[in-house]
Amino acid sequence: MYPLRRNRRLRTSEAMRSLVRETAITPNDFIAPLFVVEGKNKKEEIASMPNYFRFSLDLLEKEVKELRSLGIKSVLLFVKVPDNLKDNAGTEALNADGLMQRAIKTVKNVVPEMLVMTDVALDPYSAYGHDGVIVDGKVINDDTTAILAEMGLSHAKAGADILAPSDMMDGRIFEMRSLLEDEGFHETGIMSYSAKYASAFYGPFRDALDSAPVDAENIPKDKKTYQMDPANREEAVKETLMDIEEGADIVMVKPGLCYLDIVRDIRNAVDVPVAVYQVSGEYAMIKAAAEKGWLDHDAVVLEQLTAIKRAGASVIASYFAKDAVKLIS
Ligand code: PBG
Repeated sequence: MYPLRRNRRLRTSEAMRSLVRETAITPNDFIAPLFVVEGKNKKEEIASMPNYFRFSLDLLEKEVKELRSLGIKSVLLFVKVPDNLKDNAGTEALNADGLMQRAIKTVKNVVPEMLVMTDVALDPYSAYGHDGVIVDGKVINDDTTAILAEMGLSHAKAGADILAPSDMMDGRIFEMRSLLEDEGFHETGIMSYSAKYASAFYGPFRDALDSAPVDAENIPKDKKTYQMDPANREEAVKETLMDIEEGADIVMVKPGLCYLDIVRDIRNAVDVPVAVYQVSGEYAMIKAAAEKGWLDHDAVVLEQLTAIKRAGASVIASYFAKDAVKLIS
């Protein structure tokens, strides 16, 4: 075909390149994760996540207003639970006046149009740092899903728009959807972490919430009996299709960059929006390399987010949401 066809003709200028560009990230794509802590006037930097913070509710208000002014329309809330409120069953998760429930109301109060998504999982509330109830050294599935459904309902009652179960128990979407319907919360959505891998990239997040599995006798050392094996591809599609059958409105792949083959498989297999979570370890790696002057921070951020979207994500949860939106505006 050469020289009739020369691919470089379409790369000759920025105007030409932008004319034929296949993928663009926009503020509409992003979910900004937010970490919330008890207290007043607190903005605590997370050691392994430079320039990312835990906010007390008063400062959360400012942050949410800033996000809105940048054009970000969704937030995903996580709470750091004081140690004295943690137990095996995550009892505090159901407290109607707990930190999460107050955080939901705070966001809705200050920016009513902001979509409020909430993490539904026991680990920040678990004395053992697990996403489920532990009996005899095992995470018990069905006891856990019953609690998760109640937890989701509690968030819905506080005003959450979308519940985001991140636990990977079997059947939790069905339990949660059924309870929401029974209680009249027909419009509350579920974004399921459907293909969530047992990844080493969650380390900084567990620092942020002090939620890592504890090192104790008869407590599982890791989350491999519920989160997926990073070696598996076909299983991700099965997991995701089951969550859709159970009632998930949006499905998610997590982490991002190492799992873009999974994102594309799922995009091709489902008819619901696909979300990707670019996780804490992915954030930390870019920050660390940029601090050393080894990578161009802004360029790498935009390249990774574009790659996530190109792979098939229509929703991206990212600690770079704010940075990215500033860079593209
Ligand atoms: C809790 C949860 C985790 C993340 C989101 N929800 C950690 C885990 O499963 O251990 C990780 C997010 C990140 O690393 O940015 N179930």
